[in-house]
Amino acid sequence: MASTTLICETEPWKDLRAHVDDLKRTHLRELLKDDKRSESMTVEFDKILLDYSRQRATLDTLEKLNNLAEAAHLKEKIDRMFNGERINTTENRSVLHVALRAPRDSVINSDGKNVVPDVWNVLDKIRDFSNRVRTGAWLGATGKALKDVVAIGIGGSFLGPLFVHTALLTDPEAAGFAKGRRLHFLANVDPIDVARNIEGLNPETALVVVVSKTFTTAETMLNARTLRQWISASLGPQAVAKHMVAVSTNLKLVENFGIDPTNAFAFWDWVGGRYSVCSAVGVLPLSLQYGFDVVERFLSGASSIDQHFRSAPFEKNLPVLLGLLSVWNVSFLGYPARAILPYSQALEKFAPHIQQVSMESNGKGVSIDGVPLPYEAGEIDFGEPGTNGQHSFYQLIHQGRVIPCDFIGVVKSQQPVYLKGEVVSNHDELMSNFFAQPDALAYGKTAEQLRNENVPDHLITHKTFSGNRPSLSILLPSLNAYNIGQLLAIYEHRIAVEGFVWGINSFDQWGVELGKSLATQVRKQLHASRKKGEAIRGFNFSTTKLLEKYLQASSE
Ligand code: F6P
Repeated sequence: MASTTLICETEPWKDLRAHVDDLKRTHLRELLKDDKRSESMTVEFDKILLDYSRQRATLDTLEKLNNLAEAAHLKEKIDRMFNGERINTTENRSVLHVALRAPRDSVINSDGKNVVPDVWNVLDKIRDFSNRVRTGAWLGATGKALKDVVAIGIGGSFLGPLFVHTALLTDPEAAGFAKGRRLHFLANVDPIDVARNIEGLNPETALVVVVSKTFTTAETMLNARTLRQWISASLGPQAVAKHMVAVSTNLKLVENFGIDPTNAFAFWDWVGGRYSVCSAVGVLPLSLQYGFDVVERFLSGASSIDQHFRSAPFEKNLPVLLGLLSVWNVSFLGYPARAILPYSQALEKFAPHIQQVSMESNGKGVSIDGVPLPYEAGEIDFGEPGTNGQHSFYQLIHQGRVIPCDFIGVVKSQQPVYLKGEVVSNHDELMSNFFAQPDALAYGKTAEQLRNENVPDHLITHKTFSGNRPSLSILLPSLNAYNIGQLLAIYEHRIAVEGFVWGINSFDQWGVELGKSLATQVRKQLHASRKKGEAIRGFNFSTTKLLEKYLQASSE
């Protein structure tokens, strides 16, 4: 399917470009008068409601976006992904995170081999191991049960599991299985993160899970060595076998590190780091905390969206609609950012996770064939749960820059509270904001309205809201393991759709390499200067001065 034609050279792209002017003349206030349009811009799948009527788009726009999808061969690209073709061409890998949550009896081939049995072998091994740890059949070196799990990993080996853990923490069902257990995440190489993680932790009751796809990531390996020493210093080196396990694609390096390969949980190079939460990367730590059955429900939620993504017609397909609308906002309306605003504290780590999935996937400057892009790809993602965000950056969103917003709400709270004497429940209070904000953004408030409210003249411009600011609303029925899996997969596929349309490789990440190799150079220099007193060499004036200052001040 590789083609050197850039998507911006196709007729549907040019047609959309021309269409922008039509749209620019119409305020969302006008668009929202048309109930039929709004009705057609609402889609429901498995009780998940998507309302995109507050996008700056008409039904005509949708048709044109559909033409763009066709020109981008979107359907074929989705099929190629599910068929295990090596669509990550720069790394010569297939992209099969969907296989990680496929039912046991499904067949998904990579290089002619069905990978689903391998996936389930590891899942069964995790079920068994996590059961043994949770029931006390697996004990620490001093015979104590292992109640604290420290998962060491960074980037994709951290953000997804942290998001899911944070979302499950307050789910009564999942929390019921986590009683007396704690799950910690050590990601940053900053020693402060180590200190915070081991503060109050007893190595006798701690299990360390080293999570790294490559098992070479500098931060993770240093943190792993630090915790290995922490265990050895307190319990003796032989205790490492009982207190450290690993998740990786590189089992040889796991063994070299000193972790028994029988206590290693594999995954495969067809799982991208940021798409790995459904592999042992997430499944092991989460099963240790909540039990495998809860995690299995999370996997089936994700799988339900995989099937929907693969088979639903584009006009009813949640990830496809979301992806196409994002392309419209970024490439045609010129809005480079997207705010992810879950009205659920349990989803507080959702935006940080999606930030990596989206920005590491689509932050590219060349097409999949290596041709420099004459248009921007990728989005700047950020977000905070409502209502906290409202008291932080919403000012800019309402009266400053235009930032398309994803409002994510939940019908049934994980933790319902109804205080006696209050007008509505605490959750209704939260959701009142969820429903109000999109209209505030869309309609704004005119000078005329303000004058009718007797606002003094000198404040009119300050208090005017231009409106016409796009958003979309996603309403989930509840927030349990299953729905959390669904939400994850919706966004994973949405981001893939964007990349497929932009014609980029969403599954490599060369942009992270340069900084890493420069850090290696600095590391060598710091070592040489500290140990052998060598002068700083090979850096520009600025870096040389900064390093000198650092070396001098830190040795005072
Ligand atoms: O930040 C770059 C990156 O390679 C991510 O893609 C990845 O998720 C992360 O580092 C961690 O990599 P690993 O799991 O190999 O330690």
